[in-house]
Amino acid sequence: MAGWRRITALSCVLQVGLLLLLFSARGGGRPLEKCAGDKSCASRRPPVVLIPGDLGNQLEAKLDKPSVVHYICSKKTDSFFTLWLNLELLVPVAIDCWIDNIRLIYNSTTHTTSSPPGVDIRIPGFGKTYSLEYLDPSKRSVGMYFFTIVQSLVDRGYIRDDDVRGAPYDWRKAPNENKEYFLELQQMIEEMAEKAGEPVVLIAHSMGNMYTLYFLNQQPQAWKDKYIKAFICIGPPWAGVAKTLRVIISGDNNRIPVISPLKIRSQQRTAVSTSWLLPYAHTWPKDEVLVQTPTTNYTVQDYQRLYMDTGFKDGWLMRQDTEPLVADLTPPGVAVHCLYGSGISTSEAFQYSDKFPDVEPTVVYGDGDGTVNLRSALQCKQWVGKQKQPVMLKELPGNEHVNMLLNATTVAYIKNVLFSP
Ligand SMILES: *[C@@H]1O[C@H](CO)[C@@H](O)[C@H](O)[C@H]1NC(C)=O
Ligand SMILES: *[C@@H]1O[C@H](CO)[C@@H](O)[C@H](O)[C@H]1NC(C)=O
Ligand SMILES: *[C@@H]1O[C@H](CO)[C@@H](O)[C@H](O)[C@H]1NC(C)=O
Repeated sequence: MAGWRRITALSCVLQVGLLLLLFSARGGGRPLEKCAGDKSCASRRPPVVLIPGDLGNQLEAKLDKPSVVHYICSKKTDSFFTLWLNLELLVPVAIDCWIDNIRLIYNSTTHTTSSPPGVDIRIPGFGKTYSLEYLDPSKRSVGMYFFTIVQSLVDRGYIRDDDVRGAPYDWRKAPNENKEYFLELQQMIEEMAEKAGEPVVLIAHSMGNMYTLYFLNQQPQAWKDKYIKAFICIGPPWAGVAKTLRVIISGDNNRIPVISPLKIRSQQRTAVSTSWLLPYAHTWPKDEVLVQTPTTNYTVQDYQRLYMDTGFKDGWLMRQDTEPLVADLTPPGVAVHCLYGSGISTSEAFQYSDKFPDVEPTVVYGDGDGTVNLRSALQCKQWVGKQKQPVMLKELPGNEHVNMLLNATTVAYIKNVLFSP
């Protein structure tokens, strides 16, 4: 479990912390009807698509840069290399090169982001599972992520990259900048459902839930009825995550002393998804102080001022660009299983000295999974009775945000959804 602790810590360096078949009769083009009692039904299983969270899949980079920030940084590479997660790049000095490659540049005219000149970023492994089973391809036991879930399904007959597949994406961005991703996701779901003759189960973790909700909200109900059996939400931050406030204000090195939070802040701020995940006013009380300084209290209604006071004007534009994407929490219109951790100290508010924003805050803790505040995950509740499909909630007491993907209760719950009629 040492590897776990390492990855959990590292996954927080950037921003907020960061499930498959063989023997059944599957045929192309079969209508997606329910089992009619024939023998083959017993061994049918729904295809599974995995949607990872923030920092939850690999990113690769290829360089041909006009300049670098330090003489040790590579200016040009012959091929793509793993930018996330590669622990070797996250050490002093090398991290400066890394920051300059992974950061985004926001254009306030077009409201879009791009990579720095000469940095080409790609998302490896769409439709496959490897890039989200383990984040670090070179260190197989470090950065274990969806492996436990995938392996447990493979043990029950699923086949990797066939009827259990991954949908990695550029988690630095919000859905407004990932339009092609959603088209590819739709196409993959249709292909898998048609091949299996069964609708698909979507399993998302963390921010992947926000992505999946956005996707489902874009689809006609007839499409969802035909192609989606269920949506299993693990650790969903429906109302945002208070921890992102700290990330934006003063950076979050998650107590890894060799990395200066203020240094990592400059990169963390460029990831639009961080601003997307700020707490939402539909859930947080309008008078609750989230950030306190000697002179000012900031609530969910004070984000514009917060961004100005922290010298991050573009952040306010990023928030406005992304806040409406899922802010009304329109019910997904598919069967929902909502699994969430509780009972772990979770950042809820931050108190700063007069050195604000260039100083570490005192943290006020509340309930949650260590990353996602409990009240944010619990917003699944508001869908009960608002859609005709069932909405089930399952609390996982004592489960941490990433570790809950490993927990036997989580795995058993998933298998139950997949293998029950
Ligand atoms: C932002 O995009 C506009 C329109 O494409 C372009 O004219 C402008 O140069 C860009 N700004 C920066 C700072 O790159
Ligand atoms: C901020 O709120 C706290 C209570 O949450 C209050 O004691 C304090 O006076 C407020 N500070 C300012 C500057 O309004
Ligand atoms: C798994 O989750 C269950 C339910 O929350 C919990 O009781 C149990 O302690 C967890 N197991 C481990 C090994 O954390």
